[in-house]
Amino acid sequence: MRSFRSIQWLDDGVLRLLDQRKLPHETVYNDYTSAGEVAQAIREMVIRGAPAIGAAAAYGLALTAVHTAVTNTTVLKRELAETAVLLRQTRPTAVNLFWAIERMTNRLADPNLDAIPAIQAAILAEAHAIAAEDVQINKQIGLNAMSLIPDIATIIHHCNTGSLATVDYGTALGIIRMAHEQGKKVLALLDETRPRLQGARLSAWELKQQGVPFMVIADGASGHYMRTKGVDLCVVGADRVAANGDTANKIGTYNLAVVARENGVPFYVAAPTTTIDLATAAGDEIEIEERPAQEMTTVGNWQITPDDVPVGNPAFDITPARYISAIITEKGVVYPPFEKNLLQLFVTVQPPTDF
Ligand code: MRU
Repeated sequence: MRSFRSIQWLDDGVLRLLDQRKLPHETVYNDYTSAGEVAQAIREMVIRGAPAIGAAAAYGLALTAVHTAVTNTTVLKRELAETAVLLRQTRPTAVNLFWAIERMTNRLADPNLDAIPAIQAAILAEAHAIAAEDVQINKQIGLNAMSLIPDIATIIHHCNTGSLATVDYGTALGIIRMAHEQGKKVLALLDETRPRLQGARLSAWELKQQGVPFMVIADGASGHYMRTKGVDLCVVGADRVAANGDTANKIGTYNLAVVARENGVPFYVAAPTTTIDLATAAGDEIEIEERPAQEMTTVGNWQITPDDVPVGNPAFDITPARYISAIITEKGVVYPPFEKNLLQLFVTVQPPTDF
């Protein structure tokens, strides 16, 4: 089955990103050699989706290390700290961005990294590890979800959470893909996902090439399908899950969850544990990115509103935990009460000390 690697590191120190703004009409890869370019690519959504943003930021730091002109380790570490600040300012909601930068920064703190080549090798290895782990995590999320997916299932999905939104395979869309691969008869109803149309452009592009049955539906049609056609479940991704289970995800997720509750349809969030932010107690503490008005006033090159209209364009919303049936992670399926059960995912069992 076809996979689409959203991020590739080329051996000559180049980061290659699949330009998601151009899909599905053009498959264009852009090459980057500086963290400044990568920051701009994240902001402009060349690359998007919480895990993919995290991995791209990690490689952004690797670009700074690999292409540095300095010869002093203290100066290189300062350059990397400045790069981290730059990357942190790209998109505020997806916690994977901040998680990845912190993991890279922690690696840099190793006192053994006392020469430029050692720093370069360590930073690049850490970025590769983040990318490789992401693919394995996604597959494990899929495996953990399989018992929740009936053998014949109509599933509503919002935004794009597939290979494009991760390093490869995907979270919520990965579950749909895996169910199909395992021989389940799935039909995915893909919310088009206004205003950036990640569902219509990107999820449809992925599932079409993978041979997974789907239909693109208008965002506002999900209630109609639930009420009249028998939807078995909804599954969405997440940009940040607060400690109490409140979940930030693509704008429109909250509406979908409320309509799912009204119709008795289970509503699942699929996310790696890197998307769970225990430092954020509840959803209202999560910063919601406000994006340019032009995303709302145009579709492609067509302006669809009168000139100079006021616009609100929050990129994400918060689904309160009470609407979420379970959160599917690589460490297992977590059920309410989330406040208690999410915490359990992070408890490490200490080995006995008396041996
Ligand atoms: O604005 P985007 O396209 O980056 O938003 C993406 C989403 O909201 C996804 O659902 C989320 O990041 C999870 S991707 C596995």
